[in-house]
Amino acid sequence: MHRDTLIVHAGYRKRSTPGPFLAGPQFSSTYTTPGDPSRHAFTYGRFHNPTWDAWEEALGTLEGGHAVAFASGMAAVAAVLGINLKPGDVLVLPADGYYAIRRLASSWLTSIGIEVRLVPTRGNAQGSALDGARLLWLETPSNPLLDVCDIRGLADEARARGITVVVDNTTATAYLQQPLALGATFVVASDTKALTGHADLLLGHVATTDPAHAETLRAWRTHHGAIPGPMEVWLAHRSLPTLPLRVSRQCSSAERLAALLASRPDVAAVHYPGLPGHPGHDVAQRQMQRFGTIVSFDLGTRARADAFLGALTLVREATSFGGVHSLAERRARWGGDAISEGFIRFSVGCETPEDILADVAAGLEAAATPEPR
Ligand SMILES: Cc1ncc(COP(=O)(O)O)c(C=O)c1O
Repeated sequence: MHRDTLIVHAGYRKRSTPGPFLAGPQFSSTYTTPGDPSRHAFTYGRFHNPTWDAWEEALGTLEGGHAVAFASGMAAVAAVLGINLKPGDVLVLPADGYYAIRRLASSWLTSIGIEVRLVPTRGNAQGSALDGARLLWLETPSNPLLDVCDIRGLADEARARGITVVVDNTTATAYLQQPLALGATFVVASDTKALTGHADLLLGHVATTDPAHAETLRAWRTHHGAIPGPMEVWLAHRSLPTLPLRVSRQCSSAERLAALLASRPDVAAVHYPGLPGHPGHDVAQRQMQRFGTIVSFDLGTRARADAFLGALTLVREATSFGGVHSLAERRARWGGDAISEGFIRFSVGCETPEDILADVAAGLEAAATPEPR
């Protein structure tokens, strides 16, 4: 069967099983468990939950591996770092990936004696920083600059040197890119974004081809309590069957938006791997099914970016990305990234594409003559 069909049914009950397609969320901190606890499938809510099991089965189908669900993307990130690194190890991290991961690394990891090497994603530069490394962390396309690196090429190089490879697949999602098939040992993602797509929950997951690694991750989750809520997991699973529809439409609209922006002399730079002039275009074409739901661009100054955002009437000014509602924000307001004050990260939603493009065109009109906000 086709991949979209598999996703519609992933983790749902078999058609031969009577009852609901997807069982409701199981809210239970504890279970009736007389005598020897090992005789019971479910004992305590921090250890396991049947709602998680169905969701993890679905995630495993998408990723082609064994998946472990976490309370947020950062909980999943922390788990992968935590189970793989010890004092004295070297971590090669993208200099331009999600800033909170760099902050976590530069606080927690460096404080326990782990060396963190920050290297740009572009041009597979991380490949030249592998000497003595224990863990290579890739993020492609990177957030927010949408630079791309060659997962298979870097993974082959790293694995030949005994280095474990992790890919943060949040911006692409497992629908558009499958890092485990490209040689990664772990894939990590924030499922707060396009995978679930409705801006109503936070979740994350890790997937790996090695069942022993999955068990170690489960033990980490149990001991650190980084567990997802059953309601969030159920909502996520309810949203999964529409992933192919949502993301296909978002990618089509993102391609149109990127082309529009690239044609405008008043936009200083457009970052979208789907543009033929993007430095990672060829690699993205090889390793992604489509080019993603985010378009980033530079309006040069804070005043122009603010004028753009202030003139929008459909697109919401909000952080995050991947959801059905289009969002835009001036990314430099958070700090932490090497970007200009006029840099906009635009998350393309599921609205009618013409409405998104018209709103952007009106925003760019306003940006031509910025007034103090
Ligand atoms: C690339 C990437 N990884 C991880 C995260 C963390 O995810 P969460 O906010 O669900 O903890 C984010 C959040 O924006 C992200 O963009």
